[in-house]
Amino acid sequence: MNEAIPQLHTFDEPSLDAAFATLAEEVRTADTNDVEAFRLHWLGRKQGRLKLISEAWLKSAPPEAKKALGIRFNELKALVEYQLSPERLVKVPVSESGLIAEYATQGTISANLHKKQHPYPLDITLPGSLRTPGIPHPLLKTMHEIVSVFHHLGYSTNLGPQVESDFYNFEALNFPENHPARDTQDTLVIANQHGRPSRDRLLMRTHTSPVQIRTMIAQAPPIRIVIPGKVHRNDAADATHSPIFHQIEGLCVDTNITFSDLKGTLDHAMKALFGSDVKTRFFPSFFPFTEPSADVQISCIFCGGKGCRKCKHSGWIELLGCGMVDPAVFAAVTAERRKLNPADDAYDPEKITGFAFGMGVERIAMMLHGVSDIGHFYSGDMRFLEQFA
Ligand code: DAH
Repeated sequence: MNEAIPQLHTFDEPSLDAAFATLAEEVRTADTNDVEAFRLHWLGRKQGRLKLISEAWLKSAPPEAKKALGIRFNELKALVEYQLSPERLVKVPVSESGLIAEYATQGTISANLHKKQHPYPLDITLPGSLRTPGIPHPLLKTMHEIVSVFHHLGYSTNLGPQVESDFYNFEALNFPENHPARDTQDTLVIANQHGRPSRDRLLMRTHTSPVQIRTMIAQAPPIRIVIPGKVHRNDAADATHSPIFHQIEGLCVDTNITFSDLKGTLDHAMKALFGSDVKTRFFPSFFPFTEPSADVQISCIFCGGKGCRKCKHSGWIELLGCGMVDPAVFAAVTAERRKLNPADDAYDPEKITGFAFGMGVERIAMMLHGVSDIGHFYSGDMRFLEQFA
């Protein structure tokens, strides 16, 4: 049976402090072994002591004392709840806690409040919150791995803007205005560009190839660069597509660069990435900015080329596009360079040749790590990301 609630006749602060200190002592020394009994005794909805105290004291208090009373009442409630918290019950038995003893010596509950302290003590025996060190995101890690293969071959890295002009993204790469080749890259355009000349209209770059043009305009051959970066297309998201994804572009321009150099370079890169057993083969393809163009396939890394579901039983997986730089691209670059130096012929196609390639980072990361849904890379789900730690 609950003890009766003591009567409160005076509501000045010292009287309130004394009354609540008695109750706090009652809470602190209560037997908490029977958790449910303790809970009912103090927090029971009809006969709990807090409920009775609130009825007996809060209701009869003069209006000017209600605030002081309310503060102490809430602190008492917090103390009851603290006694019931799992940490408290498991880790700090009432009689053993030095901190609780210290708390008791501080006198009244509200004395704590005025010192801006918690109404109940801190349990320093609780485990701290664990901070796990960050790791590179699997896409960035894959990007670094690919880029580093080319760094070892003497390539350097270049970057370009994600908001690009029509000229760099299409025109200089030999995609004329209204040419159907533009339809292969469903483009996200920036609003309100129609008043501008078509070459200056802004869009989200659909590939990293425009940085080829930016690099060649800025520097004469020899060039060996890789260009990692984000690209954007108006593609619906599904298990293998995302409207924002990543590519790595490569460009090598010099005297006497041949298709054999292209083949040797990419064959080496694929072996470095996927293992020395991997074979490559080149299929004729089309890109406006390379001639001839090719799609590179690697022997299936899942079945070793025997044929499986992943390679659609062909033994081969298509991985990237490449080709020899089209002379029309050198011509566009030369026209730009001649605006600064009318005699410029650094990219004379009679003397200079080059190759280019472009690959999707997500696709390679998915293959390397057996990821079946591209969306995992962007979800921020720690259960996925922690696997790469
Ligand atoms: N830019 C092409 C695309 O996004 C990929 C590509 C193909 C890049 C061939 C190249 C290349 O540099 O030579 O579809």
